[in-house]
This record gives sequence, C-alpha cells and structure tokens, in this order.
Amino acid sequence: MDDAYGLREGEIAVDLPEHHDAGIYFIGRIATPWTRREDCPKNPAESNALCTIHLDPRYAAGLKDLETCSHVIVLYFMDGARRDIVLQRPRHYAGGRGVFALRSPARPNPIALSVARLEAVDGTALRVRGLDCLDGTPLVDIKPYFASIDAHPDAVVGWREAEGRSR
Ligand SMILES: C[S@@+](CC[C@H](N)C(=O)[O-])C[C@H]1O[C@@H](n2cnc3c(N)ncnc32)[C@H](O)[C@@H]1O
Repeated sequence: MDDAYGLREGEIAVDLPEHHDAGIYFIGRIATPWTRREDCPKNPAESNALCTIHLDPRYAAGLKDLETCSHVIVLYFMDGARRDIVLQRPRHYAGGRGVFALRSPARPNPIALSVARLEAVDGTALRVRGLDCLDGTPLVDIKPYFASIDAHPDAVVGWREAEGRSR
C-alpha cells in the first residue's frame, strides 16, 4: 500500500471482518490510458478517452443485444484501494465525510460504477467512453443503462452543493 492510499489526519479506519461473505467472478479487464492514480480521471465526466472492456470470451453469449444500447452501466473492482477507511478526508474537502456519502475508491467493497457511452462491440471487446479506472482494472458486471429508470435529474448531494460544486 503506497502513501497515496495511506490514512490522512482525522480519518477513521476499522477492523474488517475476518471472512468474506460472498465470492465474485472477475469477468474481464478494462484497458484504459491511465497507469498512475494521479493521471486517472476522478470521475467519468473528467475524460472522454476511449477505453476497451475486454470480456472473458467464456461470457461472449451474454453480449447478445448489447450493441443496441447507447450507454452501459459498468461495474469494476478497484483492486488497489484500501477497504477499511469509513471516515475520509478527500483532498480539497474541508471536513471528514462518511464513505457511503462519497464515491471514493476506498470502501469496504471497492466496487466502482460508471455510466459509459458504448461506441462499439467488437467481438468480446467493448469500446466505451466514460470510465475513470486504472489500466487493467478487473470488470465485475455490465448492465444496460435505462434513462427512464436510472436518470434522476432532480437528485441532490447536499454537502457538495454547500461547497458550491455540483460534482
Ligand atoms: C473516485 S473513484 C470513482 C469510481 C466510479 N466512477 C464510482 O463512482 O464508483 C475514481 C478514482 O478511483 C481510483 N482508481 C481507479 N482505478 C482504481 C483501481 N483499480 N484501484 C484503486 N483505485 C483506483 C482513481 O484515483 C480514480 O480517480
């Protein structure tokens, strides 16, 4: 664990349970232009870079009809992140914030979510724009994004607005 993932003053880390409750399959890997955390976008809106999701070919049949979707929800596992920090002090933020009020990679189950534009399906390689993960990040799942279900234009993150920022 390098310093980038260390504890900052005022942060709270907990003892994690001794055992996991479930297993997951990594179903592929994500190729992105970023190999260093400091170069990685903080959120999907920060980059329009083309990334490639390489799905394990064993799941190829699961891609049927996906090419009809303009956007996909991509779930990935931030495998380099700490999992024990429940109160965090992100850089540039005034006070501590609870992990579940943050999109930080450091969380008990470091599963990331991004809505990406699906540019092309090329065999088991999906070309997408709108990811914010390091090159080689494990893929957990892909789902269609339904604007009619998933979009909430009236959603508010009050603490962020109080800082005068929308994201
Ligand atoms: C703030 S998180 C947001 C992830 C996702 N969009 C979400 O909201 O769940 C994105 C940051 O996670 C970090 N990150 C990306 N890939 C990672 C990985 N494989 N392991 C650890 N940290 C990673 C990078 O610092 C990146 O800027």
